Amino acid sequence: MIDKKMEKAINGQINAELYSSYLYLSMSAYFDSVNLGGFSHWMRVQAMEEQAHTKKFYDFLTARGGRVVLSSIDAPPTKWKTPLAAFENVLKHEQLVTGLINDLVDISVKIKDHATNSFLMWFVDEQVEEEETADGIVQSLKLNANNPGGLFMIDKEVGQRMFVPPTGVTL
Ligand SMILES: [Fe+2]
Ligand SMILES: [Fe+2]
Repeated sequence: MIDKKMEKAINGQINAELYSSYLYLSMSAYFDSVNLGGFSHWMRVQAMEEQAHTKKFYDFLTARGGRVVLSSIDAPPTKWKTPLAAFENVLKHEQLVTGLINDLVDISVKIKDHATNSFLMWFVDEQVEEEETADGIVQSLKLNANNPGGLFMIDKEVGQRMFVPPTGVTL
């Protein structure tokens, strides 16, 4: 049986993952509104990934005898000044999520919950990737700040992204 404190913290993370999905879906709508279909597609894939993260926490909590409790999800922003501003927001948000994952790890260490600690390591690694990817796109957009041709090239490139569900996750 999972500790009540850990259960509460994981339910909080389920909300944070759902908010992430909501945020990226909102960014997808923003990119549609400015006719950047590649970026819009990238954000939809990103939103799906966050749904998969949600399910990973959900299934783990259930498997440990915990109770999933869903709470209200904050409304995300609806517009950004530029594609760069949107991706800077992605990076900032992922850094925040990394902090939340680290907090969960701290709790698991404190209460000596080794099973949850082991489970969380997947997310520790995932956040390294999330930050690296977002930072990479921020850097490309910065390099092409005054080059509309470059922006369309990046749009085309990120539009190739495919959704690969993490192993063991049923959406
Ligand atoms: Fe996530
Ligand atoms: Fe993420």
